[in-house]
Amino acid sequence: MLTKQVHIVRRPEHISVDDFVVVDVELPALKEGQVLVENLYMSIDPYMRRSMDDDGKDLDPWPINGPLDGPSIGRVIETRNSNYSVGDCVESMSGWQQHFISNAEDFVPYVSANDALAIREVKGDLTESDYLGLLGIASQTAYFALMCATTLIEGETIVISSAAGSVGSLACQIAKIHGLRVVASAGSDAKVSWLKDELGVDYAFNYKKVSISQGLKDGCPNGIDQVLENASPEHFSACLPLMNFSKQILIAGMVGIYDTGGVVKNIDNFEYVIDNFLTVKAHLFMDYLDSYNQFVRDMIRWRSEGSLHQKVQIFEGIDSARGALVALFNGKSNGKIMVKF
Ligand SMILES: NC(=O)c1ccc[n+]([C@@H]2O[C@H](COP(=O)([O-])OP(=O)(O)OC[C@H]3O[C@@H](n4cnc5c(N)ncnc54)[C@H](OP(=O)(O)O)[C@@H]3O)[C@@H](O)[C@H]2O)c1
Repeated sequence: MLTKQVHIVRRPEHISVDDFVVVDVELPALKEGQVLVENLYMSIDPYMRRSMDDDGKDLDPWPINGPLDGPSIGRVIETRNSNYSVGDCVESMSGWQQHFISNAEDFVPYVSANDALAIREVKGDLTESDYLGLLGIASQTAYFALMCATTLIEGETIVISSAAGSVGSLACQIAKIHGLRVVASAGSDAKVSWLKDELGVDYAFNYKKVSISQGLKDGCPNGIDQVLENASPEHFSACLPLMNFSKQILIAGMVGIYDTGGVVKNIDNFEYVIDNFLTVKAHLFMDYLDSYNQFVRDMIRWRSEGSLHQKVQIFEGIDSARGALVALFNGKSNGKIMVKF
């Protein structure tokens, strides 16, 4: 059958939609043991920009003019594997294409604790897209960052950067659920209003209008106790002089450097790490998959109680996928970005 895939045509200096092309690909007939999957949704995540470079550090570079990878959820539409039936729902890393053939060995193994290979059925109140949204990578990153890698103390101040993003917006809400004072930075007035008015953060500022140092000073009169860093070396550096003694900065990532070579050029104020005995820790959601079941329970409960909202921005159709990734780097995104095939 004929399907469509997105490929990249070059290694960009700065990402643009022209770096991508949508191509028709003929898929062969299934062999014994294989399944044919039709993708329904794909998750769009900042790390993908690093996969476009030759040296994506811990990531394998995406091939030029070849299939790309990324988290997706789809349904089996044809099967020659006795473990899978038509209609089974599967999560895989085979995004960026409408259909794909799989030996069913490479489905994401941690999706459901009760079923090590695939979701198969969409359960309870969940929709297919929830497996990439509410329960996806960004949500796991936010949840594990706060619930496992941080000591949350009621009344303490946490600073969250790229706070209107997918990780940041959930982290803000999880911190509020636990009674912290949340100070958030984001790149537009609309995002700042959304953070304050709809997510209930205590203080938010537009880092494109106010210097990060000033925004943090205004928002943190009693200093900073925790940081979840998602954005940039500049934001990280500005937090350091305000950190309270012996507290922690958790770095989930720095989306701001991914489109400029992935290099951290300047960290200012590093002496505060030494003088104030700070902990600076890199965070990886995969380190906490032992807590996956608790994560699923809490996220579903918080959403049903109304204390957790996820904004999902859907880009429709495979042709829109490249624009969806670009949107992460031009500030146009807000919340979790997905492509609906
Ligand atoms: N370690 C892990 O396990 C793990 C897993 C998933 C994600 N992450 C990391 O977590 C962070 C957040 O991920 P996400 O999926 O929620 O993405 P995200 O924050 O939604 O990323 C998109 C947003 O980043 C901001 N941004 C873009 N360029 C920027 C720049 N130059 N400086 C500052 N902000 C910039 C923009 O918001 P503004 O308009 O506010 O600038 C944009 O809307 C990323 O660093 C990502 O790599 C880590």
